[in-house]
Amino acid sequence: MQFRCLPDALSTALGQWSGDTLAVGLFASSEERPEHPLRSELLAAFGGDLQQRLEQRRFKAKPGECLTLERLGASPRSLILVGLGEPAGFDLDDLRAAAASVAQAAAAAAAEDLAVAMPCEGFESAAAGRAIAEAVRLSLYSDQRFKSEPEPRPLPAVVSLIGLPASCAQALEAVSGTCAGVELARQLVAAPPNVVTPQHLADTAAAIARDHGLELRVLERDACEALGMGAYLGVAQGSDLAPKFIHLIYHPAGGAQRRVVLVGKGLTFDSGGYNLKTAGSQIEMMKYDMGGSAAVLGAARAIGELKPEAVEVHVIVAACENMISGGAVHPGDILTASNGTTIEINNTDAEGRLTLADALVYACKLEPDAVVDLATLTGACVIALGAEMAGLWSCSDGLSRALQAAGAASGEALWPMPLRRSYKAGLKSPVADLKNTGPRPGGAITAALFLQDFVTRDLPWAHLDIAGTVWSDKGRSLDPAGATGFGVRTLVNWVCSGAPVALQA
Ligand code: BES
Ligand code: MN
Ligand code: ZN
Repeated sequence: MQFRCLPDALSTALGQWSGDTLAVGLFASSEERPEHPLRSELLAAFGGDLQQRLEQRRFKAKPGECLTLERLGASPRSLILVGLGEPAGFDLDDLRAAAASVAQAAAAAAAEDLAVAMPCEGFESAAAGRAIAEAVRLSLYSDQRFKSEPEPRPLPAVVSLIGLPASCAQALEAVSGTCAGVELARQLVAAPPNVVTPQHLADTAAAIARDHGLELRVLERDACEALGMGAYLGVAQGSDLAPKFIHLIYHPAGGAQRRVVLVGKGLTFDSGGYNLKTAGSQIEMMKYDMGGSAAVLGAARAIGELKPEAVEVHVIVAACENMISGGAVHPGDILTASNGTTIEINNTDAEGRLTLADALVYACKLEPDAVVDLATLTGACVIALGAEMAGLWSCSDGLSRALQAAGAASGEALWPMPLRRSYKAGLKSPVADLKNTGPRPGGAITAALFLQDFVTRDLPWAHLDIAGTVWSDKGRSLDPAGATGFGVRTLVNWVCSGAPVALQA
């Protein structure tokens, strides 16, 4: 799918454009407001007839309302109108949702060559162009890899954005790399745990390294043992599948001014271990417990393609399964992490933080300017924030704000949460330095506090709990139902803007 700018206004653009399908976003009309130029241009281009058709079909331009008019023997042959509601408060997220509705209608109309006109005057044009393009491409993603008879789904080959200045071409070029990263993440998350194994994650990292010139190191179990990664290996020991500690490195051409580490939780299946997940705890969905690793690998793929300057990016995944066997961790075992911290395992289902503990210690040894981890860490975060926002914990206000800005620019919401020191008391163990699970209240916070123990003091670090956002049951805006690929766009935006840990005033 190719995106291009068509800088002219709708009325002029139509003269030059020869495609089959035109989509136009319309605000609800009102007596009090002058008509939006897009509506007047549309009516001018298609004659008084159109106004009548809109009334006949009772098109009110409510948000998400979509009307396709097929025009026999005319060009364009399909006209798609999407409602945008009231102009007041219309934001980039609304623009994305509208573009996603357009994409669905265009696919239903078998559009091959689509032009989209949306009111973008309130936005920076590159940001608006990117929002529309990402929404079109990502909302049309469909995954039929595991169907024996996949249904072919023809997609528009070219999408032209009417009214977007030619200066946006560069921003649109980045869309393909970013979306390929999101799609990789969605594929990894949606694939079942008998396909996406720790080995499969390592193979995926190898393919990214090969295709985009990244460096790859995979540490096998013995290498992890030599580094003393007892927390991570303790989780892995109940599985028949070997753990794979994955370390991918993007080296920018021309040298690096900053170094950042992206860490992703990579539990390819989380049974809970001896604290076995019971019915109702979504055990059958725990293939998505590698959503953090999918996000960082998707980001690595995108970064490898976009090749941002001056930022060296390390991607780390301590991949394994949390399973039950004669060799699995017992509730009550004490494990020693690679920084020497001893951990009493009072619940084998709080395994993600154990794998992340050793991954974070390893990350900090790289002496980075910032570390960001993403993890489907706690059900408590899902209860707190639902499915549309990830929890964001950080010891650095600057990094926190920079990540929120990167998220907002891509339609991924991050909500700041507290690292309240006094709650650390909940992780006190009578026998070891820490236990891995605190009380149920504030469970997402104690999980973050647990992680913080494995991060070098004062090093800008942020933790994103994506347990709620990794999967969408019904689909929303540009996310079809299923795996969302959440986190990729935020990470790519942040890294490609130089990976700031403070925002310029
Ligand atoms: N992978 C789960 C968290 C999870 C739950 C993700 C639901 C997505 C949806 C994690 O390993 C886990 O089991 N956490 C426990 C922690 C508890 C034992 C302290 C939880 O949230 O129940
Ligand atoms: Mn668990
Ligand atoms: Zn888990």
